[in-house]
Amino acid sequence: MSIQTIHVRTDPEYDVTIGPGLLGECGARLKEVLPLCHMAVVTDSNVAPLYLERVKTSLESAGFRVSAYVFPAGEGSKNFDTLSKILEFLAEEQLTRTDCVAALGGGVTGDMAGLAAALYLRGVKYVQMPTTLLAAVDSSVGGKTAIDLRAGKNLAGAFMQPSAVLCDTDCLKTLPRHVFADGAAEALKTAVLSDERLFAQMEDGLKVSMLEEVIARCAAYKAGVVERDEKEQGERKLLNLGHTVGHAIEKCSDFTIPHGHAVAAGLAIMARATENLGWLTDEAKQCFEEGRIESAVESLGLPSSTEYPPEALAQAALSDKKRAGDSITIVVPSKIGRCELKTIPVSELCSVIEAGWALE
Ligand code: GLY
Repeated sequence: MSIQTIHVRTDPEYDVTIGPGLLGECGARLKEVLPLCHMAVVTDSNVAPLYLERVKTSLESAGFRVSAYVFPAGEGSKNFDTLSKILEFLAEEQLTRTDCVAALGGGVTGDMAGLAAALYLRGVKYVQMPTTLLAAVDSSVGGKTAIDLRAGKNLAGAFMQPSAVLCDTDCLKTLPRHVFADGAAEALKTAVLSDERLFAQMEDGLKVSMLEEVIARCAAYKAGVVERDEKEQGERKLLNLGHTVGHAIEKCSDFTIPHGHAVAAGLAIMARATENLGWLTDEAKQCFEEGRIESAVESLGLPSSTEYPPEALAQAALSDKKRAGDSITIVVPSKIGRCELKTIPVSELCSVIEAGWALE
């Protein structure tokens, strides 16, 4: 299987490297882009027993000094308490400005380790080693770092690009089914945004044999968006397709529903709302195939609806980052491969959700 590389032209510029066996080669690969330094690996209690030793051995063989911080796995750890423990750990380990943090794990680890790197000494380098499909296709690329607050998801964070992303696809082949499906939701989101061919490939499910190609296509699309709009002033808002409702579902469930599952339901609800509210232009109507997004969501083993009522979802979305004053920008699929931003008064959000809430 070949190794694929996507270059991201931000500051810093970096490569997203995708392929099998990369964790075992991480030392040699990181040595090409970083000076030999103290590498503080941040990982969780699920990932550490699987991959930490392999990563440590590879980094140490290449000449890096390695220390590791392991936190309890789960979205419940993505908070100030864990963040402050990571920061204290970096200080105890006496990391300096020329050292580096390595995020080894899924979206929670990447977001939180990235934020620790952004805060510690006002910013040290960090690298991403995603071990879930969700982190591989979305969260490890683009430099969004965050923790959750009680009021909602990812509400405290920073934009900080990594120095490298090493995506070892071997890690993804043994993921539990629901964790794999979680990442498939973000890949499907990318397909709805930009890639009709990818969507067609995913309509019957996501096969392991497609992984390298799917991740590379998601990373390439995201790299382009982030290069043009790193701080989410415009185009990058498109990447939030399904996320206003998705984050609201996560919050209503007290974060027991995983991110990708919530986004999948949010995506299906927005697709139904778009159609039912007559938001499609005549041209888009010809391209929009009723129920196609919903069916794809379901064929990936993901939910296309939610038990939480529209009022509760709209209420939960009031603390959404995408809100600006009394308006909120939502992402509307106008055909497979093209979406648009639509800014609506916050007071209308409930009726939009209502329009797409029920399964037809
Ligand atoms: N996950 C959306 C973004 O990175 O902008």
